[in-house]
Amino acid sequence: MFPKSVKPKAPPIKTQGIKTKLTPMIAASIRWDGQGRWIEPFIGSGAVALNLAPRRALLADTNKHLINFYKGVQSGEITGDSARRFLEVEGERLLEVGEDHFYFIRERFNNEGSPLDFLFLSRACFNGVMRFNSKGRFNVPFCRKPERFRQALITKIANQIDWAASVMKGKDWEFVVQSWQETIEAAQRGDMIYCDPPYVGRHTDYYNGFTDEEADAMALALINCSADFALSMWLENKYRKNEYLARWFAGYPMETTSHFYHVGSSEELRNEMTEALVVSHGAAVIEKVELTPSVSDLPLFQGTESLNV
Ligand SMILES: C[S@@+](CC[C@H](N)C(=O)[O-])C[C@H]1O[C@@H](n2cnc3c(N)ncnc32)[C@H](O)[C@@H]1O
Repeated sequence: MFPKSVKPKAPPIKTQGIKTKLTPMIAASIRWDGQGRWIEPFIGSGAVALNLAPRRALLADTNKHLINFYKGVQSGEITGDSARRFLEVEGERLLEVGEDHFYFIRERFNNEGSPLDFLFLSRACFNGVMRFNSKGRFNVPFCRKPERFRQALITKIANQIDWAASVMKGKDWEFVVQSWQETIEAAQRGDMIYCDPPYVGRHTDYYNGFTDEEADAMALALINCSADFALSMWLENKYRKNEYLARWFAGYPMETTSHFYHVGSSEELRNEMTEALVVSHGAAVIEKVELTPSVSDLPLFQGTESLNV
């Protein structure tokens, strides 16, 4: 179903946990005829769906701002041109006024929720992090680069939006704000679910409160679902291992790759991580990879720290 070699492109919105660079591995690991729907309960930045470009898709997230943004791109309300004009004006203002203008846009976004303000914040906040406080207000500080929106960056973002629009064009893609439970429940035989949840026990915020209990319920929902699935999950880094995969998915085909996360609040988080992709038996083209003894010997991750990978 997927092209033999996917040359990954970055989407216009940034989030922590973005899987742009992992899309070739995801495409190469999944066998699917593309007749049903590609279903993502945790769409995030949209990087995976945009790069794999399925014909039919159900793309969901509880973060309404992500969904609004892509609905805007899909309807043509947001285009490369409209984003370019917006970023030229606001970028110029940022250069004149400095960081106060970032905080002005942040306040305006938190009161009105405009998708273009969302785009501005995603591309001008500290390290491309997406974080909301307990009241659902975006609270990431400025990246401290008033010259951020140079012509080259504006053109790059405009091109990313045009690319996203061209990928969706003529395809049956549905974007919805809903929790993963409803999305997985909607899946039917022939569909392919790609799950990329927030990392269990790691950073939590308004849209990312993924608890151990929820993660366990999600594993059960996937295992019992009539559709095939693939699940992305971190496996280990040099500090700790994640025993969730061994608990729920031992015996499942699993691919691993090492990945460097650039988005994170501390040095420990901007670090090399082994990423796993577990694939249901019906959709696997990959060899079964057992969890190695060295992985099991590492101390277990307790899941209490506030981390943000
Ligand atoms: C790791 S990110 C997904 C990253 C995405 N694959 C990408 O490449 O950008 C996890 C996403 O799950 C969403 N999320 C958190 N809790 C959720 C829930 N209960 N139901 C649905 N989505 C949720 C977050 O808003 C976030 O966008």
